[in-house]
Amino acid sequence: MVRKKLEETDGRRLLGGAPVVIVTSAWRTVPNAMPVAWSMPVSVNPPLVAIVVHSSRQSHDMIKFGEEFGINIPSRVITNHTQWLGMVSGTSGEKLEASQLPYFKSKIIDAPLLEGCIGWMECTLHDHFTIGDHTTFIGRVVAAQADTDAFDFEKGMWLLQDAEYKPLMYLGGRTYSLLDGTFDAEVEQRSTEQMADEGFGKELEEIEFERARKREEEEERRDEEERKGESDPDSSSLPRQLPEV
Ligand SMILES: Cc1cc2nc3c(=O)[nH]c(=O)nc-3n(C[C@H](O)[C@H](O)[C@H](O)COP(=O)(O)O)c2cc1C
Repeated sequence: MVRKKLEETDGRRLLGGAPVVIVTSAWRTVPNAMPVAWSMPVSVNPPLVAIVVHSSRQSHDMIKFGEEFGINIPSRVITNHTQWLGMVSGTSGEKLEASQLPYFKSKIIDAPLLEGCIGWMECTLHDHFTIGDHTTFIGRVVAAQADTDAFDFEKGMWLLQDAEYKPLMYLGGRTYSLLDGTFDAEVEQRSTEQMADEGFGKELEEIEFERARKREEEEERRDEEERKGESDPDSSSLPRQLPEV
């Protein structure tokens, strides 16, 4: 295995595997819903979260002018609904109604919240700005709730016990995943001096082992290429006759 170049515009794909959310909005009593893969918390106090939405989406203007949005964390149960809501636009008809996905009234905002989800946030629009080719909407969380089968309220993290009660991770295309259990980092407080002395031996050994393996593979690959070049001139990347200068 070698490190292979990615197009700069594909670098973002390396951030795949994060939770997908379904953003709900409402405009003049008509609700809408779209999946959003690009979301993140941006402040604890005040509690602010960001979602990144392209201006071509119907939801874009519904959020901008409605000045609020709901964030619904879908479970695996509604994978197909999640995908479909991202394949059609609300401009083509009332897609949330068409999806038949049940929804319920929010506590504070007008946009509804969705069944089949395991966590919900209600947000008022705090700010929005265009960065590159998308709009970042910053929402102030005014209410939040989670399913007790899915969320550990003491630890403040997902329980991850039952596949039906895990957040849905989005990898790209039509591909999703679920978080596979947990493990803790076994690291104690250390000064930089201590760290420089001791390091984390096992992890460094593993990295070194992997680097050596890659070097070996790369050398083998080069040898193989050279051998092929000698025996089969057609496969050589060099021109057989050098051009006259
Ligand atoms: C899983 C998934 C994640 C998506 N993430 C985003 C996103 O982060 N931002 C965005 O603008 N569009 C995203 N899309 C595309 C929109 O959801 C899609 O264009 C949708 O139809 C917009 O609906 P609307 O026009 O009714 O608002 C995603 C689509 C899928 C299937």
